[in-house]
Amino acid sequence: MRKVRTAVLISGRGSNMMALVEAARDPGYPAEIACVVSNRADAKGLDFARSNGIPAAVIDHKAYPAREGFEDALDRHLRSLGVEIVALAGFMRVLTAGFIARWEGRLINIHPSLLPAYKGLHTHERALADGARTHGCSAHLVTAELDGGPVLLQAEVPVLAGDTPDMLATRVLEQEHRIYPQALAIVAERLSHSPKDVK
Ligand code: GAR
Repeated sequence: MRKVRTAVLISGRGSNMMALVEAARDPGYPAEIACVVSNRADAKGLDFARSNGIPAAVIDHKAYPAREGFEDALDRHLRSLGVEIVALAGFMRVLTAGFIARWEGRLINIHPSLLPAYKGLHTHERALADGARTHGCSAHLVTAELDGGPVLLQAEVPVLAGDTPDMLATRVLEQEHRIYPQALAIVAERLSHSPKDVK
């Protein structure tokens, strides 16, 4: 079985990236983590990647006057490493339609809500403010519509009396770590049976 080369893009803590790295240690897992890229030099997750021997790069969006320049540099980096799938894992930059089109079907994201509910930021705060009884997370393919691409997997958690946003986030995050590796495996399985045809 061919392991599909996957890049994980982070901006911070990187706990979902770590879950993907751990899953990919299984010889039977269909993807390998070929590199980690952060748009922020201070992203905590970079230390984990480096200490686990995963090539980790910083491409600082602030070094580029326009989004397209940043994305061209990112795209070049990914292609130079033979990347076929890009997994966003707490990557807090909105990508342009142009970049997304180049990685169509190969670009995935983990989002902390049961999409289509609570697209965007502050999902836990908004769920609590609404008095939602359930909440959760979604792994989805990325399309030009923000947090609007086809859902691959979801996991639901209860909202409990007395929950703070942090308490709810912790319960959701545990599920993110469970479903995101499964979602990457679904996309990697599909690609592992097809030739490399990155646009
Ligand atoms: C995760 O909860 C992820 O779902 C969320 O940021 C957190 C990153 O944590 N992503 C988004 O909100 C994307 N819009 P991590 O860095 O520990 O994986």
